[in-house]
Amino acid sequence: MFLPQIKTAIPGPQSLLYAQKLALIESSGITYLSDKFPVFWQKANGINIWDIDDNCFLDLNSAFGVAGPGHGNASEAVREQALNLIHGMGDVHPPKVKVDFMEKLIEILPANLNKIILSCNGSDACESALKTMQVYTKKSGIIAFEYGYHGLGYGALDLTHKPHFRKPFEQRLSGPTFHAPYPSCEEELAKSLKIIKEIIENNKNILGGIIVEPIQGRGGVIVPPKGFLKELRNLCDKNDLLLILDEIYTGFGRTGKMFAFEHENIIPDLLCLGKTIGGGLPLSICVGSSEIMSAWGKSNGEAIHTSTFLGNPLACAAGLHILNELQSKNWPALIDERGQYFKDKLQTLKSPFIKEIRGKGLMLGIELVKDLNTNEPFTDLANHFTEECLQRGLIVLTSGKAGHVISLSPPFMIQKETIDFVIEQFQEIFINLNKTVQKFGI
Ligand SMILES: Cc1ncc(COP(=O)(O)O)c(C=O)c1O
Repeated sequence: MFLPQIKTAIPGPQSLLYAQKLALIESSGITYLSDKFPVFWQKANGINIWDIDDNCFLDLNSAFGVAGPGHGNASEAVREQALNLIHGMGDVHPPKVKVDFMEKLIEILPANLNKIILSCNGSDACESALKTMQVYTKKSGIIAFEYGYHGLGYGALDLTHKPHFRKPFEQRLSGPTFHAPYPSCEEELAKSLKIIKEIIENNKNILGGIIVEPIQGRGGVIVPPKGFLKELRNLCDKNDLLLILDEIYTGFGRTGKMFAFEHENIIPDLLCLGKTIGGGLPLSICVGSSEIMSAWGKSNGEAIHTSTFLGNPLACAAGLHILNELQSKNWPALIDERGQYFKDKLQTLKSPFIKEIRGKGLMLGIELVKDLNTNEPFTDLANHFTEECLQRGLIVLTSGKAGHVISLSPPFMIQKETIDFVIEQFQEIFINLNKTVQKFGI
């Protein structure tokens, strides 16, 4: 593990050149290009990234929460698999490693989560859950949450709440999806539950389930008050609704337990997983009980839900390796301890704009507001903070309804000394930004 080493201006000359090349060939609206962003990656190992100008960075986001066990952790398993079989026929002549992976996954899940549908992206896994809900309950209505994020495929997009993503495509978002407020504290819990109960009461004939993130990730690292998931479990049981947990971000140790539902001692009917499990390869999962999944019926040779790359051998070999890693190294316990250390250190940061430090395990957030009395989101400050971090070799992202939360989800092996270094850098950045805000505003 290396501390950042910055050898050029950021972005360096090669990154600037590649940004120009990319602008010519990639559709507009995809990669954000500015004089401060991005750097083009060349190599990664553990928590470190090297760009094409040979600058070394610390990845404090695990590349969208994926590289939990470290960049390159699964590369040997993938290399070995690649020498034998790179592609299979997922639902026709499946690769052996697909079964090995699924068997191992079932071992670590609660007993009644034992039938799996594989896919590639998180969005696909949520769509598998949506379709499963439809075939099992024969109902298409679902409750999702404000600022919840479930992906951007047309099916998943209908669950995702942020207007920024939905608005251009609204014509095709047919639902019925009801977005309820996601409680961030005790006081909001009762209001949220009241609204959910009303939605259920008024839509009994069309509702099939509730989909929820145990901690909202892209929504701004929002940890709901204790008891929220239990209440949702009870409401689903009482009203014959499926409880679908989207643990694409929180799953596989990220919050200090193998799955975030363990914090509340509940078990979902359907569980969506992704990110960490593929070790960097596209792999996602929807898993449910035999009873629920049997609603799909028997395939007659023309599966009604599949895809070309379902059960891809490279992704499954990576997944099998990651599962063995998580278990043998007991990552969740380490993440719990390291996460608490990181959170405590973040609490020592001094800035008049920090509203809250929050999160669980190694899924942490710093919420920035213009004024602690009004709580108006300070999006510009969050963007400047992110840019300043990059200048110093720290890769962080923003999240939240206004992009005003600094999201931290570093690889699990982050050392205490590295955390100390990061905190020093953050404090310096805050001191500089505070001065700039006082002098010029942002
Ligand atoms: C909770 C959650 N669900 C679903 C998704 C969508 O995953 P993907 O981008 O792989 O489609 C994400 C992505 O960030 C996520 O955080």
